[in-house]
Amino acid sequence: MQSINVDLKERSYEIKIASNSWQRLAATLVKVLPPGKVLLVSDEHVWSHYGSCVESALKDSYTVVPVIITPGEASKTLAEADRLYTVAIEAGLDRSNAVIALGGGVVGDLAGFVAATYLRGVPFVQIPTTLLAQVDSSVGGKVAVNHRLGKNLIGAFYQPKLVWIELDTLQTLPPREFMAGAAEVVKYGAILSTDFITLLEEKWEGFIQQDKSVLQRIIATCCNLKAQVVAEDERETGRRAILNFGHTLGHALEAATSFQYYLHGEAVLAGMVMAVGIAKKLALLSAAEAERLLNLFARVGIKPAPPDLPEEDVLAALKQDKKRMGEETVFILPTAVGEVVIYRHVAREIIVEVLLKYLQGKEGSLLALAD
Ligand SMILES: NC(=O)c1ccc[n+]([C@@H]2O[C@H](COP(=O)([O-])OP(=O)(O)OC[C@H]3O[C@@H](n4cnc5c(N)ncnc54)[C@H](O)[C@@H]3O)[C@@H](O)[C@H]2O)c1
Ligand SMILES: [Zn+2]
Repeated sequence: MQSINVDLKERSYEIKIASNSWQRLAATLVKVLPPGKVLLVSDEHVWSHYGSCVESALKDSYTVVPVIITPGEASKTLAEADRLYTVAIEAGLDRSNAVIALGGGVVGDLAGFVAATYLRGVPFVQIPTTLLAQVDSSVGGKVAVNHRLGKNLIGAFYQPKLVWIELDTLQTLPPREFMAGAAEVVKYGAILSTDFITLLEEKWEGFIQQDKSVLQRIIATCCNLKAQVVAEDERETGRRAILNFGHTLGHALEAATSFQYYLHGEAVLAGMVMAVGIAKKLALLSAAEAERLLNLFARVGIKPAPPDLPEEDVLAALKQDKKRMGEETVFILPTAVGEVVIYRHVAREIIVEVLLKYLQGKEGSLLALAD
């Protein structure tokens, strides 16, 4: 089992990466959680695969109170949080009892929000089961629910006591979900590490075939890279923003398609492609480095835009985001493979030019985006 420390002083915690190890979960958990009740939050899909494994792994040490949500983003609401509070209150969960999230980012964000607010905060543990949750959403302490006026608008920074990554859970993850998580994986290389990009280039087949040792190395590297950024800037007052590479235009694409067409990672990948295009136009990035990044993005599989998506809708969504943030649109732009800058003054014409190339592009010609 591999262990990664997230160094946040008194809020520090371990990320454990294990394989075929449910029976070791309780022994690790008892080191950070006193015996007693735990609210085990999961969704129907994940529960059907892993509910009984986790329940039986915990039952000798804890009284498990399961609560199962409907899969999908629509469950990340205050109404659903309210249902979880009710279960917790009725089961008599007290301040020493924990909330455990078993699932993807939706379960993690919702359960984490409940943990942060129930009785002004109870211990929280993450057992992420999607690639995206394992490399991204379970690490760093952002928890949230959505508001009808926007995603993730109600939330907190709330660090877990433990993150337990069981690699075997990825075997049942739908391939499209796996590849959406892979977009966030390549993001870490693009923003932080040429060595990691080289590793991904060399081990790509093993990664997507879920070769256990390759998968473990890649997930551990992502967790390490994110942990370092979070340790430097827990509340995103500065450098943590680099994790938003690809997210400026990615979010705009998601919003312009009413969060129905893209998985988050798919939109982020398109956003990263466009960020490379913008960086190239601004002469921040050489042609060779742009090509190297785009080749790797292409291996994830760049999703074409829906055929009739007007650029005005995407630009309007960008503007909406800016209004919400009360600042100019911030782009994270690559300056080399493994390096980015935070950039605030991208001329509208450049954004439009690159966006149009993506919107009108056919698969196969997408590498021409950076021309
Ligand atoms: N907190 C953060 O820092 C952060 C970062 C990125 C994303 N997020 C949030 O994460 C959410 C997206 O998370 P996600 O991509 O994990 O989606 P998700 O939680 O909706 O899971 C995707 C789908 O896969 C299913 N699933 C999960 N694990 C499975 C498994 N092992 N086998 C079979 N099916 C499985 C789920 O039931 C669901 O249908 C969004 O709400 C986003 O806002 C949060
Ligand atoms: Zn993301």
